[in-house]
Amino acid sequence: MKILVTGAAGFIGSWVFNLLSKKGHKVYGVDNLKRGKLSNLNNKKNFFKLDLTNEKDVKSFIKKKGPFTTIIHLATLINEGIEHEKLSQDININLIASIRLIEHGYQAGLKNFIYGSSIAVYGKIKKKIITETDQTNPITSYGISKLMAENYIKYLVKHKFNKMNYVILRYSNIYGPNQTDLGEVGVVRNFAKNLKRNNYIIKHGNGKQIRDYLYVRDAAEATIKSINIGKKNAVLNLTYGSSKSVNYIIKIFKSLLKKKIKIKKRSFHSGEYYYFKASNKLIKNKLNWSPKVSLKDGIQITLKQFFKI
Ligand SMILES: NC(=O)c1ccc[n+]([C@@H]2O[C@H](COP(=O)([O-])OP(=O)(O)OC[C@H]3O[C@@H](n4cnc5c(N)ncnc54)[C@H](O)[C@@H]3O)[C@@H](O)[C@H]2O)c1
Repeated sequence: MKILVTGAAGFIGSWVFNLLSKKGHKVYGVDNLKRGKLSNLNNKKNFFKLDLTNEKDVKSFIKKKGPFTTIIHLATLINEGIEHEKLSQDININLIASIRLIEHGYQAGLKNFIYGSSIAVYGKIKKKIITETDQTNPITSYGISKLMAENYIKYLVKHKFNKMNYVILRYSNIYGPNQTDLGEVGVVRNFAKNLKRNNYIIKHGNGKQIRDYLYVRDAAEATIKSINIGKKNAVLNLTYGSSKSVNYIIKIFKSLLKKKIKIKKRSFHSGEYYYFKASNKLIKNKLNWSPKVSLKDGIQITLKQFFKI
């Protein structure tokens, strides 16, 4: 069984690729290295530079190196905040390149497509705990394009490619070592980077905004487990299951670094939501998985890349 990981040199992709290699799977990785780094990979032998927006190259790569039984599709260009949105880029990579990848993969015998979606597909929902059957109402170009890809995947599998199945994973805020630097996106990495460089952190709003944070190794383990979900299609929240405020994260930073932290205040990002909590009951049940790393432990591991603690 050959597995292809796209976005393999990126943050989550490299964790998935490295873990799969370590577990002895026959895994191939591709990335155009626009954001990803080769240094994230433990084994570069089966890694190939490939731009997924180039259909000809994708087709010939699958022909040469495939067929792949499973594709774990994690390649994307995450916008560096709503102010820096690139609409056509979102559509090209998140939607068009994803569909072409499935089409060419399927023609070569693809059985299982795992799609790295996002909780951004929900948008602002007035609900205490979001579950997978709740309405989706994305409020960013990134979220809209991710939801469109989800809908196309469901449509293609139902009406055209019925010999394959899909698993859509809606990742929450994933953090941990080797997270890609995306301006001010990614609270844990961003705080650590600013503390190291400037000795302060930038806090948007009053810090009471609630988010779900999941450690990257836990996210990678669940992603790998989803390969074995069988012949069933699934849409799953991949979340820690309990959300914390930005102020709580600052508290953890203070206690781990054992020092006072200078805070610079900025206004709340437009297009962000104040409260987000999503259930992980379904994924726990379907994959027999649960997150192992607490927020405090995860931040401690992440901080070790920046500081001697
Ligand atoms: N990190 C998070 O908190 C988070 C949250 C929700 C969803 N996700 C989703 O998980 C997936 C992985 O995210 P990540 O944090 O690892 O991002 P990342 O930016 O670290 O990795 C994405 C990789 O895709 C590569 N890429 C971009 N365009 C490409 C193209 N045209 N061809 C080939 N490769 C290309 C980039 O070079 C990069 O290495 C994405 O689909 C993202 O939408 C991530």
